[in-house]
Amino acid sequence: AESHPRDALGRPLRDLRLSVIEACNFRCPYCMPADRVPEDHGLDAASRLSFDQIERLVRGFVRVGVRKLRITGGEPLLRKRLPELIARLAALDGLDDIALTTNGSLLAAQARALREAGLHRLTVSLDTLDPAGFVALSGGRGALNDVLRGLDAAREAGFTRTKLNCVVQRGVNDDQVLPLVEFARTHGHTMRFIEYMDVGTCNAWSMERVVPSQALRDAIHARWPLHPLDPHYRGEVAARYGFDDGAGEVGFVSSITAPFCGDCHRARVSADGRLYTCLFAAEGTDLRPDLDDDAAFVSRLASLWRARADRYSEVRGETRDAQRRVEMFLIGG
Ligand code: GTP
Ligand code: 5AD
Ligand code: SF4
Ligand code: SF4
Repeated sequence: AESHPRDALGRPLRDLRLSVIEACNFRCPYCMPADRVPEDHGLDAASRLSFDQIERLVRGFVRVGVRKLRITGGEPLLRKRLPELIARLAALDGLDDIALTTNGSLLAAQARALREAGLHRLTVSLDTLDPAGFVALSGGRGALNDVLRGLDAAREAGFTRTKLNCVVQRGVNDDQVLPLVEFARTHGHTMRFIEYMDVGTCNAWSMERVVPSQALRDAIHARWPLHPLDPHYRGEVAARYGFDDGAGEVGFVSSITAPFCGDCHRARVSADGRLYTCLFAAEGTDLRPDLDDDAAFVSRLASLWRARADRYSEVRGETRDAQRRVEMFLIGG
């Protein structure tokens, strides 16, 4: 029998968020502001895990309890031959779910191949429906129409109920909340609003920029009445609400005003094979040296997980200025 370790706070390991590339074609100011992240910030391709290493790594994580895999970046669709990797991971025993988070800019050309490779679900970032605002929020690199075409292509390829993630910033895109909800309702997507977080060290986060989810929920409820839905599983990140009229649901990720560390069963691995046990971790642990020996790798993972005591969002106030934090684009959020 395999061992399913619990961490120091009693939490199992269920989800793996795996970054396949640290590079991104956007420069969202809340993640990779262009004036703080050099153009050539990336690893050379040789420091990225190979597909063989990724397959071995995911197999090891499954043996310590992972059931859900999310592929992230940077922008994962920049990784060459990604559908081939997905197909290999989809063929592994033990995973219930394989999802991918993307900025959507390259999705139109890849949606079908991703679907055929066996990808179950897509999450696409969408912070605004205003074309000029979109250019600004992607750091001058993106075009709204590419993402909209990507969403159409995803639907045609067979992806249903795609999740759309919006990071809400007061005074920047909070006027987009109702238009985004309307868009998602009309197109059969699930809109999710994320409280702006103090991740990494590059953004100029401040509490004044955060719009508490409660305020968004009230505004949406006033227009389209909502009722709370049960979580799909214990420790689900987004709190779900259904529209009373039956037109789907909306989710709120409230890491600032309602931290959810108590049930956090997520591990993150960067493209160069470092394990981060929290989105706000200062340091990762290099897993590559252990990848060659399956048994040694599994026991190393188990002991790293048992030592885990992270609960950053719950202690944010006390530690914030003192701590170094990994950059969001290295571990895909
Ligand atoms: P599913 O439940 O599988 O659909 O995915 P998800 O909601 O975990 O995935 P997604 O990548 O869409 O995450 C939504 C947002 O929540 C992203 O901005 C993440 O950075 C944030 N998030 C996800 N997990 C955590 C976490 O453990 N802690 C914090 N603070 N934020 C998280
Ligand atoms: N706060 C909240 N969410 C963020 N994301 C990136 N940076 C931040 C931040 N500072 C989101 C992206 C994407 C998800 C993976 O993380 O917009 O939807
Ligand atoms: Fe934006 Fe995602 Fe790229 Fe960060 S990784 S700059 S959030 S598109
Ligand atoms: Fe998990 Fe860290 Fe997020 Fe808390 S802050 S939910 S421990 S990733």
